[in-house]
Amino acid sequence: MSPHRFNIDREKGKVKDEDVIKTVEEVFDAFTNYHVYRLRNSVRAFKQLRGAISAGKEARVYWAKGWDGEDVAVKIYLTSAAEFRKSIKEYILGDPRFPSLPSKFRSLIYLWAKKEFKNLQQMRAAGVMVPEPKAVSGNVLVMEFLGEGGLRAPLLSESYRELTEEEVAMIYNDVKKSLEAMVCGAGLVHGDLSEFNIMIWKGRAWIIDVAQAVPLEHPKAAELLNRDVDNLYRFFSQLLDISPEDLRGHLLQCLEEKPRGAGQ
Ligand SMILES: Nc1ncnc2c1ncn2[C@@H]1O[C@H](COP(=O)(O)OP(=O)(O)OP(=O)(O)O)[C@@H](O)[C@H]1O
Ligand SMILES: [Mg+2]
Repeated sequence: MSPHRFNIDREKGKVKDEDVIKTVEEVFDAFTNYHVYRLRNSVRAFKQLRGAISAGKEARVYWAKGWDGEDVAVKIYLTSAAEFRKSIKEYILGDPRFPSLPSKFRSLIYLWAKKEFKNLQQMRAAGVMVPEPKAVSGNVLVMEFLGEGGLRAPLLSESYRELTEEEVAMIYNDVKKSLEAMVCGAGLVHGDLSEFNIMIWKGRAWIIDVAQAVPLEHPKAAELLNRDVDNLYRFFSQLLDISPEDLRGHLLQCLEEKPRGAGQ
C-alpha cells in the first residue's frame, strides 16, 4: 500500500512565499487566483501550494502546506470546462439546498465547489469517512490531505491487489458502513461511487469526490443509489463472496422512508 507521488518536487519547499502560487497563476485565471490568495491570506486555510496530485478534465488537486506545517489538499475546479456545465446542472436542479441555478458559468462552478464542501460537512457529521472540509472560496476547496509528506494515499483501484483477503473484507465493511451513514444518516447519495473514488489511508476506506452527491429527495436519487451499489458490488464480488443484498441492505428503505427536508 505505498503512497503515490505525482510531480512533487521536494525542493519546492525552499521557494520564497511570493513564488508559492506561481504555477497556479500561470495555469488559472484572475478570478481563481483571487480565491487562491483569499484562502491563503485572509482565510489562512493553507500557506504554500506544493505540487499537483491530479489534473483531471474538471478539476486539479494540489498538495499544500498549512500555516502550522500540516498537509492539506486544495481542489481547484476549472472554470473553462464548458461541457461540465450541462453535466452538473442535473445534480443541482432538484436539490432543495440550492433552489436557484445561476446563469453565469462561473457562478455555477462556484456553487459546485460549495456543494462539494456542504456534502463533505454533512457526510462527516453523519460519520462517513470523508476528508475534513476546511474552507471554500469560489471554485477552490480546501480539505484534509489523505496521505503523508505530499504523497497521496492510493485509490482502492490502485491498491487492492496488494491487500490480503482479510484486509479487503475490512475495507468492504468500512465502505458498507460509510454508505449506510451517507444514505440513512446524512440523507445523501454519492452518485459516482466506485473503486476510483475510494482512497485507502491508515488501513481505512475514505470516500472522496462528493460534489455530485444529491439529497434523497432528488429525482435521480434512486437511480444514482442503484448505480453506486451496482458499481461496488461489481468490484467487491470479484474479491469476496458477497451478495448484492448484503450491500444494498436497507438503503432503499432509508431512501423511501426519509422524510422530505431531512438531511439538510
Ligand atoms: N483529500 C485528498 N487527499 C489526497 N488526495 C486527494 C484528495 N482528494 C482527491 N485526491 C486525489 O485527487 C484525485 C482527483 O480527485 P477527485 O476524484 O476529487 O477529483 P475529480 O476531478 O473528480 O477527478 P477524477 O475525474 O480523476 O475522479 C483523486 O483520485 C485522488 O488521487
Ligand atoms: Mg474522482
